Amino acid sequence: SNDHIGSAERRYGTVTIAEAAQRLQEGGLVAVPTETVYGLAADSTNGTAVAEIYRTKGRPDFNPLIVHVSNLEAALTLGQFNDLARELAETFWPGPLTLVVPKTGDCPAAPAVTAGLETIAIRCPAHPVMRALLEASGLFLAAPSANRSGGISPTRRDHVSESLGDAAPIILDGGPCESGLESTIVAIRGNGYEILRHGPVTAEQLFEVAGVAAMIQQSSDIEAPGQLASHYAPIKSLRLNAEQSEQREFYIGFGDIHGDRCLSVDGDLAEAASNLFAVLHEADASDRTSIAVAPIPHQGIGAAINDRLQRAAH
Ligand code: TXA
Ligand code: MG
Repeated sequence: SNDHIGSAERRYGTVTIAEAAQRLQEGGLVAVPTETVYGLAADSTNGTAVAEIYRTKGRPDFNPLIVHVSNLEAALTLGQFNDLARELAETFWPGPLTLVVPKTGDCPAAPAVTAGLETIAIRCPAHPVMRALLEASGLFLAAPSANRSGGISPTRRDHVSESLGDAAPIILDGGPCESGLESTIVAIRGNGYEILRHGPVTAEQLFEVAGVAAMIQQSSDIEAPGQLASHYAPIKSLRLNAEQSEQREFYIGFGDIHGDRCLSVDGDLAEAASNLFAVLHEADASDRTSIAVAPIPHQGIGAAINDRLQRAAH
């Protein structure tokens, strides 16, 4: 039960939170569960540790990282929050929303975290194991998704070890990730905001808090390299909106279409999001030559599912 989360003795896989916190304080890396996907965490104020994140992922050094904090107060030491940023944080944190805001004048994050930008991406995660680790370590943790750069994000412990191989650090096993899609990223621009990446906090939910008027259409400039079309590519070719499968395809179903694996038999979009990356991993590892996916409704978190599928199909 949750009562034991954070207790010194409890092991998550092979590791306790105390051991993981110590590893991080010494400048090491730890793979961590969050409610979205597993992250590859390091002390964001330690430039050597941050460099090790980029090296382990094979990530280009111009692609900045998200810093994870326990609460809004901690976030205020890293970034400048105007009224809109504060309102979004108060509404959706802890949870799967990342806010991109101007850095503070004395922002303690190592320069490599923000890859030379004047802004910083900050998120307060909800996963109890990650929250216990933030508390125990007392650190602000930089953490991209814990996969090789360009691969599918990990939503299970085994995805991390498969993707990073020998380079995988110790892994805190928090079980399957509940949301299963990377956090929604919102950039604050004056009194407005722009959605840089669709995710578990939906556009509709953001409208409700910030108002439609505050939304700025997504610019075509690629500000976050994570927005590159091919960012989430699995290796096999992927066919979208497939009403039927063709020969030798691994067919991913939804609702009434059961396929080889069904994202949600009940047609539940949250369940489909949570299963998406695990099913893509499985399809890519199967003996079929290509992958097809049934149509997914575009409302709510369906927008984020279709966004990831389009990138993977590119
Ligand atoms: O759910 C998540 O967000 C997960 C978990 C581990 O928290 N993390 C994650 O990190 O997905 P990553 O590195 O895979 O994606 C972070 C995205 C990248 O596309 C990066 O370009 C963008 O955030 N980003 C980071 N800092 C930024 C900034 N200052 N301005 C614009 N985009 C930024
Ligand atoms: Mg990633």
